[in-house]
This record gives sequence, C-alpha cells and structure tokens, in this order.
Amino acid sequence: MTSKTIDRIAPPTRDVFYKEYVLRRKPVVITGLFKGQEIGEVRDEMDARKVFGNTRIIITQEYSRSAASPVKTPDEVLDLSSYLDYVMANPGTSRMCTEYDTPIRVSSTYRVPDLCKMTHQGLIENELLDLPRRWGDHDLMSNLFIGNRGNYAHLHYDGDHRHVLLYQVFGTKRAILIDPEKGNYLDLLNSIGPGFSNVYIENKSEDEKLRFVEEIGAYDTILKPGEALYIPMLMWHYLEYVDLGMSINFRFMRNKYGRFLSVDNFHRDFFGQNLSSKMVSEEKATENYFESLEYIKRSLLRKSDSRRAKIVEMRNVFREVCSEICPECEPALHCDGEHEGTEIDKIEQDISESGVYLRDYPVPQISHGPLSSSQQGALIARFASLRYPARAVEAAVYNRFAKETLSDLTKAEAASLLRALTSPGAMWE
Ligand SMILES: [Fe+2]
Repeated sequence: MTSKTIDRIAPPTRDVFYKEYVLRRKPVVITGLFKGQEIGEVRDEMDARKVFGNTRIIITQEYSRSAASPVKTPDEVLDLSSYLDYVMANPGTSRMCTEYDTPIRVSSTYRVPDLCKMTHQGLIENELLDLPRRWGDHDLMSNLFIGNRGNYAHLHYDGDHRHVLLYQVFGTKRAILIDPEKGNYLDLLNSIGPGFSNVYIENKSEDEKLRFVEEIGAYDTILKPGEALYIPMLMWHYLEYVDLGMSINFRFMRNKYGRFLSVDNFHRDFFGQNLSSKMVSEEKATENYFESLEYIKRSLLRKSDSRRAKIVEMRNVFREVCSEICPECEPALHCDGEHEGTEIDKIEQDISESGVYLRDYPVPQISHGPLSSSQQGALIARFASLRYPARAVEAAVYNRFAKETLSDLTKAEAASLLRALTSPGAMWE
C-alpha cells in the first residue's frame, strides 16, 4: 500500500466539485477559497490579532484527552488576543479553542461558499419519518479551531455525516485522512469510545507516521494559510498543529439519508459508518439501497424493552446491512462475541447525554414552518442589544443558514440563532 496524493485546485464550480470529489469521496485542497474577501487577507498571527483580536472564544482541552481524563479542566472564555498572549507565555499548553461555533465577528469577514449550500431538490423534500429539519434548510454548521504547535485532534470520525471544508486562516496544519473501510486496522476495540481510534498518531515519530500512512494507504497533506481541505463525510481524520494556527470548518451537504443515519437519530459504530459512507449520492442510495433503508427505518420505529436493548438491536441491523452492501470493510472481522458487551457499554456511554433511541414517533411538528413574529422580534431585540451593525446581522443569517434575510428563516433556524446569540462569541465589541 502507498499513501494517496491530494490534488490542489482553484475553487471549482459546484458541479465539478460534486462529480469529481464528493461523489468519488476524494479529498482535495482548494486554494484561494476566500480570495478578495476580508478573511482571505488574514495570513498570519498579527493579521488575526488586528481583525479578530477582540473576539471572545472558549478555551478547552482537545476532546480525546478530555474524554480520557477523570479530571475535567473547566472551560474558559478569553478574547483571541489574550489567548495568543497566553500561548506565547505557555508554549507547551494543550489548551485550545476546538470546535467552537464560529463567532459572528469572524464569519462577518466572508460569505459561506456556494459549494456548501444544499440543492433545490434537498430543500423541498420532507425528511425521512417526517423528522424536523433541526439544523435548518441548508443543514450547515461552522466551527472555529485555534491551537498551538504540538496540539492535535486525535484520529476520529465525525458522527454528524456532514462533508467538511477545513479552511486554514493562519499557521500550518497537517491532515492525515483514512477511508472508513480501513477501520479494522485502527484498533477500534481498544479505543476510548465510538468514533475514536486507539492508534495514537500524535505519539509517533515522523518516520513512524510516514510508515503508518504508507502501510494503511492514507492521505497526508499540509495545509497553508488560504487553503481549504475537503474531507469527505465519515472519513477518519487526524489533525496536527504544525505551528500556532487558526482554522474554520464548514460542515455541509448531508443528503436526507445522511441526516437520518447520523448521531441525530442513531448511535455510531463501525458498521453504521461504513454503510452510510456508501450513500453519498441520494439518487443512487434510493436506487440501490431502498430495501436496506426501509429495514433500518422499520427497526428504529420498533419499541424495545430498554435503551441498551435498542442499541443491541440497531447494531445488529447495521451489521447485517453493512455485510450486504459493503463487504470491502470486512464486517465479519469486526468485533467478535467476546468484545461485544464492552462495545455496547461504550456506545451506551456515548449516547448517554443525547436523545437517541428515547424519542417517540412521530415527532411533534412544532419546529416546522417559518419563524414566528415573536421569534423575529426577539432576534431583532437581541441584535440591537449586542449593537450589531447591519453587515453582522446579514452575516449571522447568511453564514449560518444560507438565507438572505431574517424573515426567510424557519422556526428551527430562528431558535438556533437565538441560542447562538447568547454564546460569548456572539459579542460584537
Ligand atoms: Fe472531526
């Protein structure tokens, strides 16, 4: 096996991007994604201090370290310049800003790329089981990451099933990506939880890293300021801060099967990851996997004696479907009876704070439809109290939901925006 190369291309049309990269699950680096926009001019730490210095961010611990440690360090709110000063004084720190909802002060310096928007088709159809579109019509998310040299994001995959564009604002970041079908070579049964590998790339020497990348056939690239890495949905990824850096991700373009099969409704495991990774094309999934999807839907609706029993049932359904539609990931080799109980324990723990397998169907329709006049009034009042200029209001609406005006929002979108406006990062001045 040899490592795989990643193309570097100028921003492609939506059509080329979808056909050449999304449908083929092929990572790519897009250069100059925000050329001509304010964020595209930010290339180093000094630029970032000038433009975003007062923006409040939440400083925390990288999540695999946090999950593995019995001692929880409290999160802390700092403005970006103070965090950069802190890093200078404490260069070995593992405290960083990770996966923080991108502050509107930052998102007002760009417009969310058209590549991330949903097509018309995706907007008009109802969700499976008529579930509410809880993340909005375009189903977008964006997060901010700032960390010092030596920090990393441990090898994991994201259970939300969205594709990702990871844009490097300043500093350099190394990314190692691995296809879902390689899961049996990532020591998953000894990992801290579903979605994490027990392979600690962060602890390997450079030679060991290169050997690992070669042996497993991974993608390995270095992102520079102004470049954006496309990470196909459900891909394993390890990210390393080569030096002090800031990046923003855009999470986007789940189709209706991705939205359904994600952690919004199911647990995550190797089988679900692999079967879902086959469903990049909604049309092909409907054509090729209709019966399997109906089976999964029926199984989800069936009542179980306990949540644990439901996990066991759905895991068996995922295992069965996975064996049928993705034999290349070698499902029969994954997790023998001896380890099954421990895996179920880990899954139970993983979903302990979510509503997965606790929901009654059908789900009440209260979050369907356009925003109410009281929501609109509350949003206008909140914008005024935060002293947002008009461009910040526009950025808050467009970059979160790909909608032009406040009155275009749905009920679910308005509720999500109201929540976001109470976060420390929502402060403008
Ligand atoms: Fe991730």
